[in-house]
Amino acid sequence: MLGIIGGSGLTELANLDISHREVVRTPFGDPSGAITFGQLSGQPAMFLARHGYGHTIPPHEVNYRANIWALWNKGARGIVSVASVGGIRADLSPGDLVVPHQIIDYTWGRRSTYHEGEGCTVTHVDFTEPYDRNLRQMILLAASDVGVPAHTAAVYAATQGPRLETAAEIDRLERDGCDVVGMTGMPEAVLARELGVPYAAINVIANYAAGRADSRDGISFEAIEGVLHEAMQRVRLVIERLSGCHAEVCTTPD
Ligand code: HPA
Repeated sequence: MLGIIGGSGLTELANLDISHREVVRTPFGDPSGAITFGQLSGQPAMFLARHGYGHTIPPHEVNYRANIWALWNKGARGIVSVASVGGIRADLSPGDLVVPHQIIDYTWGRRSTYHEGEGCTVTHVDFTEPYDRNLRQMILLAASDVGVPAHTAAVYAATQGPRLETAAEIDRLERDGCDVVGMTGMPEAVLARELGVPYAAINVIANYAAGRADSRDGISFEAIEGVLHEAMQRVRLVIERLSGCHAEVCTTPD
């Protein structure tokens, strides 16, 4: 079953034919909200709003461990993260969709592993390719099927937030090789890896990153709202198509 985590601009999936909602308790605390279950393109799917349904949880306070564990526990065997980002690379404009292929993690102080605490054995996971290759390809295929353009690769910089970056920080991220910047991509991706759940992301460019193009003198939050509203219609189409194809290649939960 496909699990979808919606970020800013996507607190519900309008095209999900809802069957029920469930509050899931986890050994790691409470997820951001109830999980919404339903059918998408005739296939079972589940949805969770990362920041809560009322958008009340900031990026550095999201309980990523509980969110990923809850989706996995309820049978998600593929997770698609939808998240808005700032665009650093010159060819990325507000409204564009991006399927990132790499991550650099600049966050700090977040609970970013399930393998800690008393009784845990020291465990390392391979994270060379942080996103699942097959799921990325399926997202790109789904986008192409429904005629929605999407950039096929990007290096995602995960910053701590909740503040946006300085112009100099964005210059530094660019020198590091980052193409987009967001606040929620980590530790989500690594937690999914630890549980063995294929995970990939659809990023929506909400704004030019700080100091770039029309964000040269500051970032306009009013503009972001409009951009996200329009772009999320396209994201929904892609996810709807993906849900149909995912079932064909994904094993059903135990
Ligand atoms: N920086 C960090 N996170 C973001 C941005 C940004 O410019 N836009 C949307 N999420």
